[in-house]
Amino acid sequence: MEIEACRRIELPKIADPRGNLTFIEGMQHVPFQIKRVFYLYDVPGGADRGGHALKTCHQFLIAMSGSFDIILYDGREKERTHLNRSYYGLHIPPMIWREMDNFSSGSVCLALASEPYSPDDYYRDYHEYLKALAASSPSK
Ligand code: TYD
Repeated sequence: MEIEACRRIELPKIADPRGNLTFIEGMQHVPFQIKRVFYLYDVPGGADRGGHALKTCHQFLIAMSGSFDIILYDGREKERTHLNRSYYGLHIPPMIWREMDNFSSGSVCLALASEPYSPDDYYRDYHEYLKALAASSPSK
């Protein structure tokens, strides 16, 4: 899987003087069925999150409040993306290494996932991840 497969997706936004509304349906606005939702909040200044790649799970990350950066790596290229709106998010397919930093104070990151939580689905060791990439495409 390559970084180009990570897509920023704009979500529907119903603008209303009473407050805006955004909705997300699996297979409609994100390219997978949503089996799990989790969120990061109360992130202290200077903290880093992530630092892993997933073997099979797709994720979609949204800055529900505030902002943060996501650093993506596919074994070849590295890319830093800033998320700061609650009506768009970033789809991260499996086998992409991601790290998150630069969280603004009070920020909330909502994550939608295509699979239930499974520790076996994680590469948390960067060298193991690189080895798995090399094994799946020896020409890289
Ligand atoms: P972790 O994946 O390290 O968080 P991040 O990548 O955002 O820095 O998860 C932190 C802890 O939470 C770890 O012990 C696993 C647990 N966890 C669950 O039990 N269920 C979940 O859905 C997630 C995402 C994490």
